[in-house]
Amino acid sequence: MVSYKDLGFVNTKEMFAKAMTEGYAIPAYNFNNMEQLQAIITACVETASPVILQISSGARKYANQTMLQYMGQGAIEMMKTMERTVPIALHLDHGNSYELCVSCIESGFSSVMIDGSALSYEENVALTKKVVDYAHQHDITVEGELGVLAGIEDDVSAEKSHYTNPDDVEDFLNKTGVDSLAISIGTSHGAYKFKVKPGESIPPLRFDILEEIEKRIPGFPIVLHGSSSVVPEYIELINKYGGDMKGAAGVPEEQLRKATKSAVCKINIDSDGRLAMTAKIREFLANNPSVFDPRKYLGPARTELIEMYKHKNIHVLGSAGKA
Ligand code: G3H
Ligand code: 13P
Ligand code: ZN
Repeated sequence: MVSYKDLGFVNTKEMFAKAMTEGYAIPAYNFNNMEQLQAIITACVETASPVILQISSGARKYANQTMLQYMGQGAIEMMKTMERTVPIALHLDHGNSYELCVSCIESGFSSVMIDGSALSYEENVALTKKVVDYAHQHDITVEGELGVLAGIEDDVSAEKSHYTNPDDVEDFLNKTGVDSLAISIGTSHGAYKFKVKPGESIPPLRFDILEEIEKRIPGFPIVLHGSSSVVPEYIELINKYGGDMKGAAGVPEEQLRKATKSAVCKINIDSDGRLAMTAKIREFLANNPSVFDPRKYLGPARTELIEMYKHKNIHVLGSAGKA
């Protein structure tokens, strides 16, 4: 058993308590490779922001579980050489089984999500409680999910979203003992969140459902998945340099800013990082067709990622200066 405390990670308890009182959200950024991880750490140290490093089971398959453990450790060591340290949680994103959660806990994660949202309510409660009972023995925080987000979440995929039913949340918390709750209020995973015709604006998130949930469980940390803004400049670059991503649309920054003022304490962003990297790599390779050194095109992609994460911390999530 590798203890996250020995590695230098923290669980999400104190992060969420502070975010709740002070009205901001902790960034939860996914990573799959070294450049993404370096960019997240650099941006969060430079903006003095706490951060949740997220690893999906897809990332585990891609990068190898042992490699990820040492990458996480490497991130902590890299941070120690920089101007300040910030609280970092290492979190399993969309865990889909008890066994996977246990394996992550044993390899140094400080927080796990058990995503039982595709199950029946009773099965979701039972699975989530089982994970919580194990995780809490090791002081690891657990995120559960109620309601279904459309889009792909590793092995958990859904065609249509189902908003979270506020009538369920109190009972779910009481029965499972989770530390935070992911809800569905209109966001979805990936780069095509809303179908909007030219001239139409993106429909607002269901803040009425969020408010109703907050009334039922006051002061309880809420998580928003699927919160990439699908930055239009990146879509334009991708389309300009050989890509085809017409119709891509995400959650406007204004709506995310509004959410940070509520009980939303954690905002999940993965796709925007993928889009920034792809846009910059496409641009670089189109303009430099003879270059074949990956450092030459991954470097500018990493620089763009740093700027993007800093922008989100400072101007969207409000987490800058909160470390
Ligand atoms: O919620 C989904 C995350 O964006 C992870 O995506 O399964 O492709 O790694 P992934
Ligand atoms: P996006 O696809 O909007 O980045 O959402 C990521 C996410 O929810 C990871 O759990
Ligand atoms: Zn998600």
